[in-house]
Amino acid sequence: QALLTPEDAVLSDELNHASIIDGIRLCKANKYRYKHMDMQDLEAKLKEAQKHRLRLVATDGAFSMDGDIAPLREICQLAQKYDALVFIDECHATGFLGPNGRGTDELLGVMDKVTIINSTLGKALGGAAGGYTTGPKPLIDLLRQRSRPYLFSNSLPPAVVGCASKALDLLMESNAIAQSMAAKTQRFRSKMTAAGFTISGKDHPICPVMLGDARLASVMAEDMLNRGIYVIGFSYPVVPKGKARIRVQISAVHSDEDIDRCVEAFTQVGRKHGALP
Ligand SMILES: Cc1ncc(COP(=O)(O)O)c(C=O)c1O
Repeated sequence: QALLTPEDAVLSDELNHASIIDGIRLCKANKYRYKHMDMQDLEAKLKEAQKHRLRLVATDGAFSMDGDIAPLREICQLAQKYDALVFIDECHATGFLGPNGRGTDELLGVMDKVTIINSTLGKALGGAAGGYTTGPKPLIDLLRQRSRPYLFSNSLPPAVVGCASKALDLLMESNAIAQSMAAKTQRFRSKMTAAGFTISGKDHPICPVMLGDARLASVMAEDMLNRGIYVIGFSYPVVPKGKARIRVQISAVHSDEDIDRCVEAFTQVGRKHGALP
């Protein structure tokens, strides 16, 4: 809303987070929606959008419901070819994706090609509130003058800022946390797959255990809770009909034993409810 005018265009992945969709609704730019992570469709829409003054491709770096990761290398190549800027929402990447936890752009080697990054202090950084935007200084200066949610809201509580700042210090001192997240994610994904489950997405600590049926997802999640494991079942309208799942999130504080216990519990609960033979 602050950056783009009716002369500009925004191109958005169809599965972008609701907050991006609402932000785009507020902005007066011309809107193009491309099929989820479909680079042919993005290219077609970029061609169509050449008639506008500026083009901004907007995508989640990592998509929270499926644990899949935007093809940022290809997106940045297309953006370069069609003279567009790239915006990524890194709420599900900051602090743990990439060798040093810098996010999807680090994971995919395009840190110098993404123009604007939005992220939250409230997920991996642990503060449960607040967020930030990074980008070229003139753009940040503009946001400080024109961004309505920033101008017309109270500041963050100092304790939240203090916690987030400490979390960033820890991440910058060592990449041990980011590296251990990757190893734990790999352990869970491969053991669950070997047990016969389908895990959506790739290399992401959000591990959606795909079940299809909404009731199955709900009763299995309840049974997991009875065994002391807190996982949440998601079904329509949060995810498409017929794609119900239990979303498991691996955390840096989980031990290998925790992960193995979770896989064992899923296997027992899956057999009990007919999700596994
Ligand atoms: C992809 C994405 N973007 C933005 C947000 C909003 O973050 P916050 O609640 O810190 O404003 C969320 C929160 O769930 C999210 O998942």
